[in-house]
Amino acid sequence: MADPSHRHRATEDWSARQYLKFEDERTRPPRDLLAQVQLDSPARVVDLGCGPGNSTELLVERFPDAEVIGVDSSPDMLRQARERLPRCTFVEGDLSTWMPQQDPDLLFGNAVFQWVPDHPQVLARLLQSLPPGGVLAVQMPDNTMEPALMLMEKVAASGAWAAALAQAKAARNDLPRPEDYYDLLRPLCSHIDIWHTHYNHIIDNPAGVVEWFKGSGLRPFLAPLDAAMRERFTAHYTDEITLAYPPRADGKVMLKFPRLFIVAVR
Ligand SMILES: C[S@@+](CC[C@H](N)C(=O)[O-])C[C@H]1O[C@@H](n2cnc3c(N)ncnc32)[C@H](O)[C@@H]1O
Repeated sequence: MADPSHRHRATEDWSARQYLKFEDERTRPPRDLLAQVQLDSPARVVDLGCGPGNSTELLVERFPDAEVIGVDSSPDMLRQARERLPRCTFVEGDLSTWMPQQDPDLLFGNAVFQWVPDHPQVLARLLQSLPPGGVLAVQMPDNTMEPALMLMEKVAASGAWAAALAQAKAARNDLPRPEDYYDLLRPLCSHIDIWHTHYNHIIDNPAGVVEWFKGSGLRPFLAPLDAAMRERFTAHYTDEITLAYPPRADGKVMLKFPRLFIVAVR
């Protein structure tokens, strides 16, 4: 009989692998975020929600002399990150309560705070923990109104799985408006920059869009289902995605993906 801990680990390994299937596309927003961080030689840099280390690697490349630390709540993601960057320090932590042990010069959080409950207050707390001149830089998907996300909820509400998925929608709320972040964070910092970028990722086909979201937004919808239900849910969702994202002349699909960026200097 399969060892349950092994099975758990296999599922978790799958999540990091699934996430990295679109590594090039997923690494572009943290590149764009980092390009707006005006620090020359920070001593200590923390990658919040470091995942499998792709964003951490950017920080190491940009700041080769800094101590770079990754924090994540997923042991599997941390294992992958440690394999990728053996010279960095990776620690398990929940950003809801995590605080830096020593003054960091940069707190960098790419594609993580959308998962953290009451994240605006968490951002305010982290910004206040920085020394003068320290930078908080975050990027979050602002795509809850995009068809791909709306369709998850539509499919969740309309099948045999509806009761099992009643809570799944609550996993991610709409982001507050840029003005709300400004009003909250501006009094706590000397400079703030808030912007949106809409990416148009070119994906091989509609099934590729489904694969993309299996590594992120679909996870709360698929996790509560057994294998058979998961398969049916995924098939139904794929049909909906095919209608909402019609292939272009070359068969590829354009996945519009709005993202919100904030860079605040303490
Ligand atoms: C979408 S991945 C982002 C990974 C990486 N930063 C990147 O740029 O690709 C989000 C990561 O946040 C982590 N995460 C989610 N909620 C968290 C929390 N409350 N505390 C710490 N990490 C969390 C997940 O385990 C996952 O590795």
